[in-house]
Order: sequence, then C-alpha cells, then structure tokens
Amino acid sequence: MSQPDIILEADDVVVRFPGPGAGPLGLRRRSVQAVNGVSLQVRRGETIGIVGESGSGKSTLGRALLGLEPISGGHVLLDGLAVSDGRRADLKALRRRTAMVFQDPANSLNPRLTVGETLAEVLRVHGKAPRGGTDPRVAELLAMVGLDPALASRRPAALSGGQCQRVGIARALAVEPSLVIADECVAALDVSIQGQVINLFLDLKERIGLTLIFIAHDLAVVRRLCDRVAVMYLGRIVEEGPTESVFRAPRHPYTAALIASIPEIDPNIALPLAPMGGEPPSPLDPPPGCPFHPRCTYAEDRCRTGPAPALRRADDHGWACILEPGTLPAPVREPPTSPPPTTREAFPCPDPA
Ligand SMILES: Nc1ncnc2c1ncn2[C@@H]1O[C@H](COP(=O)(O)OP(=O)(O)OP(=O)(O)O)[C@@H](O)[C@H]1O
Ligand SMILES: [Mg+2]
Repeated sequence: MSQPDIILEADDVVVRFPGPGAGPLGLRRRSVQAVNGVSLQVRRGETIGIVGESGSGKSTLGRALLGLEPISGGHVLLDGLAVSDGRRADLKALRRRTAMVFQDPANSLNPRLTVGETLAEVLRVHGKAPRGGTDPRVAELLAMVGLDPALASRRPAALSGGQCQRVGIARALAVEPSLVIADECVAALDVSIQGQVINLFLDLKERIGLTLIFIAHDLAVVRRLCDRVAVMYLGRIVEEGPTESVFRAPRHPYTAALIASIPEIDPNIALPLAPMGGEPPSPLDPPPGCPFHPRCTYAEDRCRTGPAPALRRADDHGWACILEPGTLPAPVREPPTSPPPTTREAFPCPDPA
C-alpha cells in the first residue's frame, strides 16, 4: 500500500525491446534492456527531474510510468491504480489522470485543427466538456498557460514554437491530470522561450500543485525547476535525491562527471571529478559489475565483477556505488554561499502576449 502523499510508485520496473537484426535460427535475439530495475517514488506536488545521457532510458521510463510502454517486469502504481496490469478500465482511468508533454511543440499538435478545436477535442474525449460548451474552458486553459484566448482560432502554423509548447501544456492540463510527464519539452525552444515555459511550470506548481516528471538533458534547467532529481545510466537510476543535495554533493561518480562536463551550470559549484570521456556501453551488451566502471576513474577490481550495485540511501539521497562518497576528491572550488535561485526569478523574462 502506498503512502498517501506518494502519487506514483515504481518498483523494479524493467522494459526490454528486441535487439536489432534477426538472430541466427534457433537462437533468441539479444534484447535491449532500456529500463533495468528502476524503483522510484514521486510525491504529490513535487517536480522530479530525470537526467542522463542519450540512450540512458529516460523516455522509455517516462512512457512506461504512464502505461504507454509495456513493461517486462516490476510494478507501477499511480494514484493507487496499477499501471502495469493492462486492465482496460484502469488504463482509461489512467488516461484521465495523466498527460505527457512532448519535445517537438509544432509536430505534436494536429495542424488541421485550430488551437480551440484541439483543446475542445481533448475536453470532449475525456468527458470534461462543460454543459454550456467548451469555449469558456478553452479560454481558461489558454489563460492558465499565459496565452491570449484569442489564439483559440489560430492553427499551429500561425504560432511561434513557444506558443505551440504552451498549447501542448494547455492540452495536457485540459485532462486535469494528477501527474504530467514532460519529455525534453523545452529542448527545441530558444533560451528565452525555455525560460518562459520553465516559469510556467513553476507557476503551475505553485497555483495548482502540479506534480511533474521533467525529463531533460539540460542540468541547469533541472536544477532550477526540480525539487528532486534522478540520474539514469544504462537503464538504471544511479543517483536520486533532493536537487541541491545531488548537485552540491553528488555521491555517484557518474553524476559528478555529468555535472563536471557542464561547467557553465554554476561556476561556483564543487566539481569533484574530471569530465568523463567515452560513450556509455551498448545496452545490448552491458558490462559486468557496475555499468559505469569502464568510464569511472575510481573503479577498483570489485567494481568490475558481480551484479550492478544496488541503490543505497542516507538522508533521503540514494546512490548506486559501492565506493564511499568520501573517496571522491575534495571539491576543487568552494560551493556558493547562497543557494541558487529556485523561484520564478530563476528565469526573469517577460510574459508573452
Ligand atoms: N522502440 C524501441 N525499440 C528498440 N529499442 C529502443 C526503442 N526505444 C528505445 N530503445 C532503446 O532503448 C534505450 C533507451 O532509449 P530512450 O529513448 O529511452 O533513451 P533516452 O534516455 O530517452 O535518450 P535521449 O536522451 O536520446 O532521448 C536506447 O538504447 C534505445 O536505442
Ligand atoms: Mg528521450
């Protein structure tokens, strides 16, 4: 039974895809273990960032959490509903409680429909259409994402990228979801428009208590927006904890290297490890032992054999490394004396018309 403030609980989730090419006759193809035993709890009203290099399994995990990708093992409970057991009624209820915002704002909207028609369709499909017609609710949704309700009559081609992304978010909110998963939803936008969308999420979190899973490459954005962060490597969560704790004192060498590889994230942050080189190993052929050991400057013999290290926790901060975090070298720079901005001031930018 999940605790009341836990909206989503993933337990040992595995997602496998068939590997590329046909295997020799009589032999099974090797599978890609895109998500490999992920356990995660998301609290109501919190924003959790999922970061990691390309191919680490972020999108697959996001889709699996919403029942959009069949899972090969483990369980997902969302608002008390089992996501993974495939019962139609549960899936229908799930669709009403969750929504996903995608990376490509323009292509994720139907070009033939006006903004108003797109939103009205979602309201109707999900049984949220008010008796007096959908127009007032459409206007309300557009206002909620900082858009002029007059845009309801426009088609996506007449909107900017940032406006399309706001419509995408309005469409997600139309369902009145308990949980939104945003997958690289600001990656395609200009920096100033990115700031507007981030501010919008911060605002929605404050006003309607939105629970958000924010999948992103951009660590600086994640640091400003998210309460917690989970770091994925080769299908596993290798570190997870409160954002400031993870960014100021990473406990997994991979997280430390990820932060170090982006020096502009915060010129004052402690950088315990040199930026990492090389590529992540193929998920078709993961190395034995710790999956990060081939790239880890701290790897010892015991890291190269046996099962992957399990996540261990202290102070609400988990990490999957058998070495003691204290063995990472001392910070090369002093941490900042004041915490970085985490509110709307993080991205001062004008609200769009
Ligand atoms: N439909 C699929 N069929 C086969 N393999 C897949 C499929 N979708 C994803 N994969 C593989 O699963 C792994 C994880 O992919 P995923 O897209 O979840 O990573 P990601 O972290 O979202 O990457 P990115 O940052 O590039 O979006 C990759 O090795 C990818 O090639
Ligand atoms: Mg992805």
